[in-house]
Amino acid sequence: MSTSFASATPVTPDRDWWRRAVIYQIYPRSFADGDGDGIGDLPGIRSRLPYLAALGVDAIWLSPFYPSPLADGGYDITDHRDVDPRLGTLEDFDHVVADAHRLGIRIVVDIVPNHTSDQHPWFVEALEAGPGSPARERYIFRDGTGPDGSEPPADWRSHFGGSAWQRAGDGEWYCHLFAREQPDLNWDHPEVRAYFEDTLRFWADRGVDGFRIDVAHSLAKDLSHPLRSQPNLDAVLPLDGTDPLYDREEVHEIYRSWRKVFDEYDPPRMAVAETWTPTSSRTYLYARPDELGQVFDFSLLKAQWHPEQFRSVITRSIREHSQIGGAMTWVLSSHDVPRHATRYALPLDTDLYAWLAGDGRGVELDEATARRRARAATLMMLALPGSAYLYQGEELGLLEVADLPAESLRDPVFERTGGELKGRDGCRVPLPWTSGGPSFGFGADGSWLPQPDWFGAYAVSAQSGDRGSSLELYRSALALRRTLATDDDFAWVESGDPEVLRFARRDGWECLVNFSAREVDVPGRPLLSSTGDLGPTLAPEAAVWFVPSAPV
Ligand code: NOJ
Repeated sequence: MSTSFASATPVTPDRDWWRRAVIYQIYPRSFADGDGDGIGDLPGIRSRLPYLAALGVDAIWLSPFYPSPLADGGYDITDHRDVDPRLGTLEDFDHVVADAHRLGIRIVVDIVPNHTSDQHPWFVEALEAGPGSPARERYIFRDGTGPDGSEPPADWRSHFGGSAWQRAGDGEWYCHLFAREQPDLNWDHPEVRAYFEDTLRFWADRGVDGFRIDVAHSLAKDLSHPLRSQPNLDAVLPLDGTDPLYDREEVHEIYRSWRKVFDEYDPPRMAVAETWTPTSSRTYLYARPDELGQVFDFSLLKAQWHPEQFRSVITRSIREHSQIGGAMTWVLSSHDVPRHATRYALPLDTDLYAWLAGDGRGVELDEATARRRARAATLMMLALPGSAYLYQGEELGLLEVADLPAESLRDPVFERTGGELKGRDGCRVPLPWTSGGPSFGFGADGSWLPQPDWFGAYAVSAQSGDRGSSLELYRSALALRRTLATDDDFAWVESGDPEVLRFARRDGWECLVNFSAREVDVPGRPLLSSTGDLGPTLAPEAAVWFVPSAPV
């Protein structure tokens, strides 16, 4: 293996780089700790950029690093145009951008437009100014219902459990689709619109190359009186743009105006929408070229380790994207879901969230199965057309930390569901860089979430140079992908076996994924396999990229 990045070339003014990029998500508090306070930070990220260049990623997406009271891991923001002092300064941010660009890595930042922190100056002002004040109009305040106004204005449920309304203490209630510390903004207010357009410019002027838009489908709401009932959040969306809260038609007009902001820059800035809704044709509308250009397609992430599930979500995604002209995205893991190595190793009928709530007891997780399937799925994803989003630590094959003690949990989901759901901390545990030492090389001291002992075996230092490791597989795959991936061409090839998926890309290379428990023949010359073996057969639960033999 090589940690050298001498071959890295600085970023070039390519307008379409994001259409086929590998974008690595960094959850800043858990990536690398530069000052030894147990919290990851921008200097830590900067120090590890060579690692990312050697890994071969095209861009990094930074989850929020803005000032935040951390009611929701940084997605509760008090200033959208600054850096949290615990994570560094704007100058540190500029260094990250400059160094990354020199190494050929682009920067995507998170924009969180649905809500602010309850400690954002606008919300503090709104609470102080009282009912009927102009300051309240930037948010969604309403009178309570019931004889004495002690009932919430509507039955809306928060994503984190409980009501989506909180009493302001003066007769009014405010709406928060997430934690109560995350009041929703009123997107009918011109100041709100202007604030976010200027925020996009603020970061674009600082050199960022793109934006990931948080809860992109929620900004437009039907707030007409009387407030409409919201039956059950995402589970029963009408899928026609008429839901009062989600995926309304009007939201697209906001993104058409943002596109004009992106196009003020040369090259234009890219954007990707996060829309956590049931996947339908409407999901892909956000990726239209005159809107954001990309939308996370979570259907692959939601699919289980099963050939038919993978085949059908891939088929749909490619078809839908070709109809609207957006660029495809694939995701297997993120800071919001249990890591894919763990998901794939559990029996298909396991209730994942109940398993987590029980600290991972009850069903034994087989690490070898996790490793095999996670690698195979990753190799398959990296062979698909479009761009792939990786989540930090997946290149190490990390498993979910299922047994974090309750007292260490930080995700509001745990508290708001009364402990019924454990929340998302298990995939946010700070990364292991070395097999030993304090916090496994994450920083000079501890880490804000406890790391399990087994993290040492997954450390970067333990895997570097080991040809059979997950890290070296990712490095090889990203390097080879650069030379192979060309257009968005894709075609299924009949494998003759329902447990084997086979597809072809342009320039004569193909991918074979074996879901079965037996070896299968590789119909050509192997280039790279998830097991490292380049023999004529493919092991059970493995994937291979290969050049097909000429038809006889
Ligand atoms: C989606 C983010 O990915 C998640 O982490 C966050 O809790 C919610 N949006 C609210 O901002």
